[in-house]
Amino acid sequence: MAHPADDPPCFPQLPTLLYQVVTFQEQQETMPVTNFRIPERYEYQTGFAANLETEAIKGALPIGQNSPQKCPYGLYAEKISGTAFTAPRWENQQTWAYRIIPSAAHSSFEPAPSGNRLKTKFNQIPNQLRWDPFDINADVDWIEGLHIVAGSGDPALKNGIAYYIYGATKSMNEKTAMYRVNLVNDEPIRGYILELFNGHFQLPELGPIGSNCLANARDFQIPVAAYTHDSKSTWTVVNKFCGQLFTSKQGHTPFDVVAWEGRYYPYKYDLGRFNTIGTISYDHPDPSLNTVLTANSNAHPGTAIADFVIFPPRWLVGEDTFRPPSYHRNCMSEFMGLIEGSYIAKGAGSGGFQAAGASLHNCMSSHGPDVEAFDKASNQELVPVKVGTGSMAFMFESCYMVGVTDWGLKMCQKVQKGYSEESWGGLKDLFTPPELPFRE
Ligand SMILES: [Fe+2]
Repeated sequence: MAHPADDPPCFPQLPTLLYQVVTFQEQQETMPVTNFRIPERYEYQTGFAANLETEAIKGALPIGQNSPQKCPYGLYAEKISGTAFTAPRWENQQTWAYRIIPSAAHSSFEPAPSGNRLKTKFNQIPNQLRWDPFDINADVDWIEGLHIVAGSGDPALKNGIAYYIYGATKSMNEKTAMYRVNLVNDEPIRGYILELFNGHFQLPELGPIGSNCLANARDFQIPVAAYTHDSKSTWTVVNKFCGQLFTSKQGHTPFDVVAWEGRYYPYKYDLGRFNTIGTISYDHPDPSLNTVLTANSNAHPGTAIADFVIFPPRWLVGEDTFRPPSYHRNCMSEFMGLIEGSYIAKGAGSGGFQAAGASLHNCMSSHGPDVEAFDKASNQELVPVKVGTGSMAFMFESCYMVGVTDWGLKMCQKVQKGYSEESWGGLKDLFTPPELPFRE
């Protein structure tokens, strides 16, 4: 994650996953914690979905009530709800924030030009798609470097998803906020984002696995309260609203939450802590085994609006097994990205599957190992082998048909031509039927 250089951790309000392409200090040979090149600089609370409370000033949280006639220290109470008031208790998410000035104190939002780069208009196509690494343009901050690549549905109906990439070469203006993303040591940043138009991520059920493994609740990190006190400067607040940007002005910092309590908050998770499960006998389990977080469709248990799945460093030991994924057609849509390193099932093709690139295999689109990966996996000696060291591929798997924006299809100019033909066009007919007898 990028860290704000001077401001306290912000308080984003979108159900969003954000991943940063990181560079490891050195390739890590053992698990479980990623050796980030930039050391941690903040304090956190831990625990996924826990009801938490935190105070930057002792006594800033009212005791036993949310909205006293006068809040401690002259703060304002502001409730932020992430679910309907009457949502079932197990999924209800809200937070009470105690801040210096309420967020309502701002000028009218005015449209801000953002062209097509955030428009939620998706072209549905059945072809397999792969993108070269997306550019990081010169002299752009995080908001300017944000582009929507693919997605489905309509944010106005709160139904669907969107996948973004971002790249930035400079920090955001000093008095501008959306999320606030500044560079550390002026080094460029890039990454991927998944936005849910509705619902929230939760940890997947573990079933027979038991009560531990995959992503453990204790490893999710949530900011502690921190604030700045500035009711004199003019701030610009950027609002991404149904595929376009709006801005407003306000005479106070938005980073003024002195205390808060609740279940609706940002969190971060080091993918290096994921406790990977796999076969210790034979055959290739479905990739759902690597689900970090899932956003359930509710209508159909086990069918996700979005599963966030990763392919971390792991041992492969399956006997008499084709170890990469088999060829498949999936009723779910698969968008993949690569944070760093290389991925086991992809090698050849025009440029290959590269870090900071992506691929999309829409609903029922045929895909699987390319020729090179198939030949290698079919003939390799099946000794235990560790794969993925220094690498982290991921997949957003969705029950929706996932379309591509005009920017993702044309304007970014990163779609690899000939991806399908180069990957699978060279697969040979290896069928060797017995000579006699057989039915035609
Ligand atoms: Fe797939």
